[in-house]
Amino acid sequence: MTTRIVDQTDLLNTPFMRACRGEDSHSTPIWLMRQAGRYMAEYRNVREKVGFLELCKTPDLACEVTVTAVEKLGVDAAIIFADILLILEPMGAGLQFTAKDGPLINKPVRVAEDVTALKKVDPESLSFVFEAIKKTRQALRKDIPLIGFCGAPFTLASYLIEGGSSKHFAKTKKFMYDSPKTWHALLDHIVEASIPYLLGQVEAGAQVIQIFDSWVGCLGPDDYDAYVKEHVAKLIRALGGIAPVIHFGLASNSLLLQMQAAGGDVIGLDWRVDLAESWSKLEYRCGVQGNLDPTVLLSNRSEIEKQARKILAKAANRQGHIFNLGHGVLPETPVDNVRFLVDCVKRLSVR
Ligand code: CP3
Repeated sequence: MTTRIVDQTDLLNTPFMRACRGEDSHSTPIWLMRQAGRYMAEYRNVREKVGFLELCKTPDLACEVTVTAVEKLGVDAAIIFADILLILEPMGAGLQFTAKDGPLINKPVRVAEDVTALKKVDPESLSFVFEAIKKTRQALRKDIPLIGFCGAPFTLASYLIEGGSSKHFAKTKKFMYDSPKTWHALLDHIVEASIPYLLGQVEAGAQVIQIFDSWVGCLGPDDYDAYVKEHVAKLIRALGGIAPVIHFGLASNSLLLQMQAAGGDVIGLDWRVDLAESWSKLEYRCGVQGNLDPTVLLSNRSEIEKQARKILAKAANRQGHIFNLGHGVLPETPVDNVRFLVDCVKRLSVR
């Protein structure tokens, strides 16, 4: 028992956890979205033996790829290997990942009856994620915090309605505008499922939660307020401050204030925004995470260093900056460039 308390104290004082709380640290913490993925040979080796969903559902393997990424890169935080779409399976929507088309939902939501037909999610049906978190927490170094995560209600609803990935989110928005009542019922259902899922992840050993609203940037601010904000706010409120929350959206420059109002200790920024300007717009009332363009990692060392420096300069040693990409590591990224970035940020940000 004593050991556990000591371990948590160590964890809570790491640069990453301190930044999540807006406290100072000796250097800027860095981790990368999709740090465990296809760009890494170790990951591809595991994937040669098992399918993506099977990997997610095998706690020993999920733990292995999570920990390998941290050890190989020297990042300051781990993110549990899983996927935002896993929660859609116990809803009865049917989930498949194909090499060509990415995720596919077998029974998309198109009419009100489809929403009523969605099953209430028993958190036990996602126990493989909790198990993976427990194993990973034990396998990780004691000074590496573990991030749990979920998809935000809008982004998950978009997969349910579109039946997979989408470019214009036309079906999603039509559904939202045509049937607002059903839309809100759908988002309620997603939030009700996500609350115990996130609480279970924290209980299993995650120190921080990231909420991925990857596709919400397709909405304008008024629609965000009308159709999304209350649902995200409810989800974050329900966590009751049990762990810091990182609230991430892609291409959501015009929504930053709305997203901040919905909640989160740290707001994720993508590369399309100026970090200094955005943080100032948020009045420094939260931390920020970001915001290197992932394609910079396809280039060369001098460009990577130049761009890392620029971002650190924009953050100006303020408390509460977590270095990250503006979106996930791309599959064609050279691992050496990723390691170089991590070293750069550590070297350049020492105070
Ligand atoms: O290292 C980590 O970041 C943790 C693992 C993680 C994955 N997906 C693994 C994954 C996390 C945090 C996610 C979140 C996720 N999943 C998001 C939000 C982040 C974002 O990218 O905006 C979204 C939208 C998804 C849905 C998803 N999963 C798609 C659209 C795809 C197919 C496209 C692709 O990149 O392959 C996936 C599959 C997926 N999730 C892979 C990985 C490593 C690739 C699967 C493979 O091995 O073939």
